[in-house]
Amino acid sequence: MDINRPINRRNALKVLGLGMLATCVPTLPACGNTRKEKKIKRLIFYFSATGNSLYVSRQIAGEEGTLLSISQEIHNENPVYEAEEIGFVCPVYCFIPPAIVQDFIARSTFKADYFFTVGTFGAHSTIFPEFVDNLAKENGFQMNYINTIQMVDTYLPYFDADREKRENYILPVTEMDRMICEGYYRSSGRDRKRPTVTRSEKIVFSTDACVGCGVCTSVCPHGSWKVVDGHSVAEGECENCLACVHNCPQKAISIIPTPPEPEEPNRNARYRNPNVSIADLIKANSQI
Ligand SMILES: Cc1cc2nc3c(=O)[nH]c(=O)nc-3n(C[C@H](O)[C@H](O)[C@H](O)COP(=O)(O)O)c2cc1C
Ligand code: SF4
Ligand code: SF4
Repeated sequence: MDINRPINRRNALKVLGLGMLATCVPTLPACGNTRKEKKIKRLIFYFSATGNSLYVSRQIAGEEGTLLSISQEIHNENPVYEAEEIGFVCPVYCFIPPAIVQDFIARSTFKADYFFTVGTFGAHSTIFPEFVDNLAKENGFQMNYINTIQMVDTYLPYFDADREKRENYILPVTEMDRMICEGYYRSSGRDRKRPTVTRSEKIVFSTDACVGCGVCTSVCPHGSWKVVDGHSVAEGECENCLACVHNCPQKAISIIPTPPEPEEPNRNARYRNPNVSIADLIKANSQI
């Protein structure tokens, strides 16, 4: 692979060798690094509210990969991880990784020959690669590969299952990317490092359609919902990930508008990646 030739997002993902392989069954990694066993080949940390990043993680993991949920690993008291390759897959939130992902990276120690990050996004990922590159450096390691995938387009068929080659590539950030990002931060007034961190009671509420099933209590990565007298109530730390909103089977959770952002145009528009089940997301995120 000629690393000097112009490369688009599709090619870049292809050369990473992200195989369309069988779904990985998570197994425990060499956390704490006390064992002298064979190193894990590819360890992937993911965060996912609606399944896109979990789906991409599964594709990247391949047969020898191990998936670990950041929502669970954030509680690891001895967060030392070692593998031949370590990757992070997460949604892009306000152009950067969710705060929970940043926090996990900051509190953990990673040992690997090769580090990569893939962000899944809907419209603009802009400065995401630059931010992740700096985040890694601030925490003492170097990313070899950073890229993003627009989930509304299916880039996954372009992954080449036969290639296992490692590539050094960080998706370039353009001036236009910086302008889009700057405009958004200025107009929204959001914090540039933790733009989505809030309190759940400030951004979501359950309507009369709530039947108290408890799904929201289980998909929330901060455990910030509880069912009281058959009705679910939001209170606590919040990532603004909208897992509760999208996964409520009754569509009984609505968003409280936070100006200047508009009110949601359609209270019935809810999404979960079709390859990911509610049970998968509960397993990934439940704090109960
Ligand atoms: C709070 C929040 C902020 C987001 N910010 C962006 C963004 O800045 N740019 C973008 O293209 N998509 C943005 N999105 C869309 C997600 O990045 C995208 O849908 C992602 O694939 C969701 O991943 P998941 O299904 O693994 O949770 C945002 C979504 C949420 C909930
Ligand atoms: S998931 Fe929806 S219906 Fe179930 S308890 Fe939560 S708000 Fe109520
Ligand atoms: S309350 Fe909802 S939006 Fe906030 S962290 Fe929990 S699941 Fe995500």
